[in-house]
Amino acid sequence: MTDLPITGVLFVCLGNICRSPLAEGVFLHHARARGVHTEFDIDSCGTAHWHIGSPPDERSVAVAAAHGVTLPSVGRQLNPVTDFARFDWIIPMDVANAEDILAEGAQPERVRLLLSFHPEMRALQREDQQVPDPYYGGQRGFRNVYEMIDAACAAMLDEFLED
Ligand code: 4NP
Repeated sequence: MTDLPITGVLFVCLGNICRSPLAEGVFLHHARARGVHTEFDIDSCGTAHWHIGSPPDERSVAVAAAHGVTLPSVGRQLNPVTDFARFDWIIPMDVANAEDILAEGAQPERVRLLLSFHPEMRALQREDQQVPDPYYGGQRGFRNVYEMIDAACAAMLDEFLED
């Protein structure tokens, strides 16, 4: 048991079937491995409504499974009212997601691009800290995205646990 407060983290992409479900599952995986998952309220969503109720894309499921990671996400759309109240951190995958979230009224200091936590990418310009949308590509794109998300989530957990 711990008396630490629970930190709410919402991962956001466009469709909530490729990138943000991966980030959610990978973050949860790292948190469980370190025995700290109960310190977090973790979820994912999309800015678009297209895939409400859908499981993650089978290519995300496959790359996650190859690393022993399961993806609990069920597609849903960002709800500015409830999500901005529930989550301490809103973590978009790309700049378009971030702009959409800010346009919905999120507090800018609670919105951070996922790759701003990445050990080798944290010093880059905002435009270069984007997880590319793998939807229209093949499995290789999903492997590339997985590596970025994995490194960023591990570093993000380090940073949160230091605070
Ligand atoms: P995601 O990828 O934002 O990483 O989930 C996409 C998923 C679906 C679509 C676009 C991007 N779509 O056009 O349906």
